[in-house]
Amino acid sequence: MIAGTGHAVPKRRMANDEFQALGIETTDEWIRDRTGIRYRYVAGPDETLTSISTEAARMAMQAAGVTAAELDVIVLGTASADRLLPSTAVEVQAALGATRAAAFDVSAACTGWMYGAQIAEGLMATGNHDTILVIGAELLTRIINWKDRNTVVLFGDGAGATVLKRSTKGRGILSAYMRSDGTLADLLHRPKGGAAFPTTPEIIAEGSDKIAMAGREVFKNAVRSMADACDRALDGAKLAAADIDLLIPHQANIRIIEATAKHANIPMEKVFVNVDRYGNTSAASIPIALDEAVREGRIKDGSLVMFVAFGAGFTWGSMVVRF
Ligand SMILES: CC(C)(COP(=O)(O)OP(=O)(O)OC[C@H]1O[C@@H](n2cnc3c(N)ncnc32)[C@H](O)[C@@H]1OP(=O)(O)O)[C@@H](O)C(=O)NCCC(=O)NCCS
Repeated sequence: MIAGTGHAVPKRRMANDEFQALGIETTDEWIRDRTGIRYRYVAGPDETLTSISTEAARMAMQAAGVTAAELDVIVLGTASADRLLPSTAVEVQAALGATRAAAFDVSAACTGWMYGAQIAEGLMATGNHDTILVIGAELLTRIINWKDRNTVVLFGDGAGATVLKRSTKGRGILSAYMRSDGTLADLLHRPKGGAAFPTTPEIIAEGSDKIAMAGREVFKNAVRSMADACDRALDGAKLAAADIDLLIPHQANIRIIEATAKHANIPMEKVFVNVDRYGNTSAASIPIALDEAVREGRIKDGSLVMFVAFGAGFTWGSMVVRF
């Protein structure tokens, strides 16, 4: 069961109309019409993935009534780790003082928190772990190309955290679905800068160590995969769309969210949307939305919530959870 949630963002909020001053040919109207995004958060020099993840984690642990010493595992989904080695999860472990925990990162892009939650469920089923912190966090503004208008307007920074405990009395994950398709990896990727093409001054100059995306193709695949994933999650839980109290989709683009909800036959009043205020925060998007939904009272004891995610890889997945 999801026993507590929290989220944190950097201090600076950036509006759409600030891009023009940076020399990017775009408008507030274009960004709102095509994506639904109005604002995103941008980390400053004193903020790190570890710092915002730790803040989100403390909030989730407080909500769950769990201390750092009680954490058995820390799983952190991210595509923008503070360092390539070691994982950001161990840095969060150190910051929290969670001395007993095993800690590791999950690399599944926007599906990172979803993969992490399903891994946590599996670890709890072994009987060896009771309390698991699952974080989704990104500093995407550090890995986007600030000269590429196709991507720079879409992404933002943030962290969402959840404390998972072994399910009791029919609460927790009722169905879970995970998929990936690596044949489409080049449609959304960082072409260079990893071990295959270590960073050089040329790579930095051409920006090929930053996110590159074939937007239209990603859009089509996202709609198709998220729609299918909703069907799978409902089938797996033996539920109908009408049973779902709230759909929390990955927040990439309002048009993707609307198309997914339409396919799943869930009215927009039952869909949580905050892409307007955060942009696409990748692995952080679902746990940030979840925390807001909980704190706004849109999720109560017994609520049935469906989650659906899609991201680079491609990776995608879904879950139905009873709170
Ligand atoms: C990126 C995205 C918003 C573009 O919207 P779209 O309606 O598909 O727009 P198109 O790709 O058809 O581009 C339309 C035009 O707008 C231009 N454009 C792109 N970014 C722009 C921007 N920020 N401002 C103004 N114009 C822009 C393009 O260059 C293109 O111009 P052209 O027709 O002269 O070539 C959309 O494809 C999308 O959301 N894709 C999925 C992205 C995503 O969610 N990725 C993460 C998945 S987890």
